[in-house]
Amino acid sequence: MTKIYENAIQEVERLYSDISDRRVITKANPQEITDHLARTYDFQGPVDLDDMVEDIAGMLRKWSVQVTHPRYFGYFNPSVRPAAVVGDILAAAFNPNLAVWSHAPAAVEMEQHLLRYFLRQFGLDPERATAHFTTGGAEANFTAVVAALTAKLPEYGDKGLAGLVQKPVIYVSQAAHDSFGKISHMTGMGRGSLRRIAVDQDYKMDIGHLEMMIENDLQQGYYPLMVTGTAGTTAAGVIDPLDELSAMSQRYELWFHVDAAWGGAAILSRRLKPFLKGIEKADSITCDAHKWLNVPMGAGMFFSAQREPCERAFRIATDYMPGSTEGVLEPYTTSVQWSRRFIGLKLFMAFAELGHGGYAKLMDHQVDMGDYLKKELTSLGWKIVVDTPFPVATFTHTKIESGQITTSEVLDAIYNRGKAWISEFVLSSKDRTLRACICSYRTQETDIDVLLEELKTVMGMD
Ligand SMILES: Cc1ncc(COP(=O)(O)O)c(C=O)c1O
Repeated sequence: MTKIYENAIQEVERLYSDISDRRVITKANPQEITDHLARTYDFQGPVDLDDMVEDIAGMLRKWSVQVTHPRYFGYFNPSVRPAAVVGDILAAAFNPNLAVWSHAPAAVEMEQHLLRYFLRQFGLDPERATAHFTTGGAEANFTAVVAALTAKLPEYGDKGLAGLVQKPVIYVSQAAHDSFGKISHMTGMGRGSLRRIAVDQDYKMDIGHLEMMIENDLQQGYYPLMVTGTAGTTAAGVIDPLDELSAMSQRYELWFHVDAAWGGAAILSRRLKPFLKGIEKADSITCDAHKWLNVPMGAGMFFSAQREPCERAFRIATDYMPGSTEGVLEPYTTSVQWSRRFIGLKLFMAFAELGHGGYAKLMDHQVDMGDYLKKELTSLGWKIVVDTPFPVATFTHTKIESGQITTSEVLDAIYNRGKAWISEFVLSSKDRTLRACICSYRTQETDIDVLLEELKTVMGMD
């Protein structure tokens, strides 16, 4: 093997050999990093590649939150499957460009083979539906809004929003991902077109409030375009009432999108799938591979029950791209990206290695760990504040509620000690609570015990 590859692989092995014994987070200050960079890389002459690999791996170990650590309980960044890392290496080395089928037939077909499998899991018909890989959930959500505009408002594509008689508006809950703020801006709909629907006491979209907002918009001459239900909200892991949202979409002829960026992976688990009921009626779905499907960033997936809106929205003709191939959807004319990386290979390899059942086991294990965490927290006197079947715990304590200690004091102390990483969850009342999500399939009860011990110590509960 060429030495440079060998060295890189050794660094990967080194990373995982003792990750549990190392800190999840270390203090970094910008000056220390920029000084090191200025000293080591002035770009005036060559740097030895072996030294560089060692140095860069060292920097990443020292100056990153270790999101693949089993005690990283953060924002959905997963521990990555080794097969997925190998997939990313192969994708980088062969560098196929998936813009057109004829340039990368094997790669395009592998992605489509895998995506058809997921379409079937979601209950969409692969013969009529379409799917492609994206850089992540934000791009997939953006694609959904463009598809909705194109499907529902035929003038949008050529005349733009100025050509529309009514202003379109979209509905998401207050707990939905904030990518929709940027998307309203980027599509030209304007941030004012985003309707934030109240959540109920379980942090699910309040259907009554949604209906009231739609009626209000209709009366005022707006065009209700789309509703997004979230399956696994970013902060609390809550699943909106998808069946009811689907019924509401049918009644008001809305495009029904499900943002299942994190929770969509649950479709693979027999135990979790029932919680996604209603997703099969979606017009489009976002599901990230780089969250609960355990592959490196950036790997999102966009699914749509209908092909036509994407074919129309992203259509383009050029005289320099290779001609199209009979019977295939050319990726660059049916999605946002033009030149495109072989994003799907990492998921293809990881999924094929374990198979559907093996993957479901990883997910069920994380749910078991989440249940263990919630049970232990409760028995130690903590209060779980939001209920979800997914492995995320949002919790508080009378000491926090009474102001004896703030959540930022708890987090600072935990980060200083470096044994675990957790975050905050802000309640509708604006009160702050704590949040821990089981992001790693490697997390074991012993890791959770460490977190519980850390919480006990920083709260002075000994
Ligand atoms: C529910 C939800 N949707 C969308 C996104 C955005 O995904 P990405 O960061 O992959 O663009 C996130 C990110 O955490 C998310 O939690």
